[in-house]
Amino acid sequence: MRIDAAVVSVPGGPFEVSPVELDSPQAGEVLVRIRAVGICHTDLGMRATWSKHRCPQVFGHEGAGVVEAVGPGVTRVRPGQTVCLTYRSCRSCRQCLAGHPAYCIAGLNTAGRPDGTPTITRDGEPVFGGFFGQSSFATFAITHEDNTIPVPETLSPVIAAPLGCGVQTGYGTVTRVVRPAAGATLTVYGAGSVGLCSVLAAARAGARVIAVDPIAGRRALAEKFGACATIDPTSTDDLAAEVIASHGRGTDHAIDTTARQDVFAAAVAAAEPRGEIALVGIGRALEFDVMSVLYKGLSIRGVIEGDVVPDEVIPELADLYAAGQLPLDDLITVYPFAQINQAAADSLGGATIKPVLLVDA
Ligand SMILES: NC(=O)c1ccc[n+]([C@@H]2O[C@H](COP(=O)([O-])OP(=O)(O)OC[C@H]3O[C@@H](n4cnc5c(N)ncnc54)[C@H](O)[C@@H]3O)[C@@H](O)[C@H]2O)c1
Ligand SMILES: [Zn+2]
Ligand SMILES: [Zn+2]
Repeated sequence: MRIDAAVVSVPGGPFEVSPVELDSPQAGEVLVRIRAVGICHTDLGMRATWSKHRCPQVFGHEGAGVVEAVGPGVTRVRPGQTVCLTYRSCRSCRQCLAGHPAYCIAGLNTAGRPDGTPTITRDGEPVFGGFFGQSSFATFAITHEDNTIPVPETLSPVIAAPLGCGVQTGYGTVTRVVRPAAGATLTVYGAGSVGLCSVLAAARAGARVIAVDPIAGRRALAEKFGACATIDPTSTDDLAAEVIASHGRGTDHAIDTTARQDVFAAAVAAAEPRGEIALVGIGRALEFDVMSVLYKGLSIRGVIEGDVVPDEVIPELADLYAAGQLPLDDLITVYPFAQINQAAADSLGGATIKPVLLVDA
C-alpha cells in the first residue's frame, strides 16, 4: 500500500516525508495506522551514526495508533484496537523468560525481517523499515505481536506515543531497577523527558530527589514533578559538592541521562558509599577513577528501556495518566507530521522536551 514516511536517505541527513510502498503484514506482523509518534533522542542519535549502515531508513520508535490488519498467527491484538508501540523482544530467550525483555539476545530492534525482504520500498528500492520493529515516522507501520501493546481507547495517541520508550525508560529505571527506599537520596542528571519521568517516579517512591539540568524551564518542571531541589550545572565549578550540600550527604542513587564525562565524574564524586549510578543516556566511552569506585563500593549499571516488561508497565502508565498522576502534557509539544525536521531541531536545541508528531490530524 502507498503510505507517507519520513525517510533518511544519507547518514545524518534530513527527514524527507515522501510516498513509499509498505508491504502487507506477514506471519506475526501487525499493520498499524499511526496516529501520533514521539521523537526520542535515540532516533536523532541513530540518524547521526547508525544510519550509515542502513540507509535509506525510516526511524521512529514511539508510535501510537490503531491496528488496521494482522498477519497470519497474530492472536494478541486485533483490527480496530488502539495500541502503543514499543521495543521488540523474542519472548523465548533466557533474558525474556527471566522477565527482562529489554536485554533480549535476539537483536530484533535493529533487524528487519528474518528472510531479508523489505517492509518498505521507495521507487522499487528497499528502505530499512525495521527500526525497533516499527519505523513509525510514517502514516502506517508494520509492527509485531510482541511490540504492539493495547491501550485504552480513551487514551489520546499523543500521550500514548511516548509511553513506549522515553516515559517507560525514565519511570522504569526507578520503579524496576533503582527502587529507592523512602528517604533515600537520589540525583537525576539531565531533566529531559527521560530524566523528568525518573524524577516523578522517584518522588512518588518517597525518595529525596535532586535534578540537575542547565535549562531553567526543565529545572522548574523537575520541581513540579517532585524534586526537592535543582541545580544548574553551569553555575558551579564543583557540581559534586553542590549535590552533596543540597542532599546534606552523598547520593544513594544517581540516574545519568546525559552520558557526559563531566557529569559522570560528578556523579561518582557525589555518590554515597555503596551508592549506585544508573547509566541511561546513550553515549560512547566514559572514564572513571577506579579507586573512587573501589573505596566507596559503588555500583555502576546500564539500563535499557527501564528494564520494563512493556505489557505490564504501559497499562500502568496509562492508568497513572488517567488518574491525573502523570503530567505528560507538561513535557509534550505537538507538531504536524510534515514539521518533523522542525520538531527534531527544537528537540536538539532544547526548546522542546518531548516532540510528538500528529500523523492523522
Ligand atoms: N537507555 C535507554 O534505553 C534509553 C531510552 C530512551 C532514551 N535514551 C537516551 O537517554 C538520553 C536522554 O533522553 P532524553 O530524551 O531525556 O534527552 P534530552 O536531551 O531531553 O535530555 C538530556 C538532558 O540533559 C541535559 N543536560 C545537558 N548538559 C547537562 C549537564 N552538564 N548536566 C546535567 N544535565 C545536562 C539537557 O539539558 C537535557 O535536558 C538520550 O541519550 C537518549 O538517547 C536511552
Ligand atoms: Zn528474547
Ligand atoms: Zn527511545
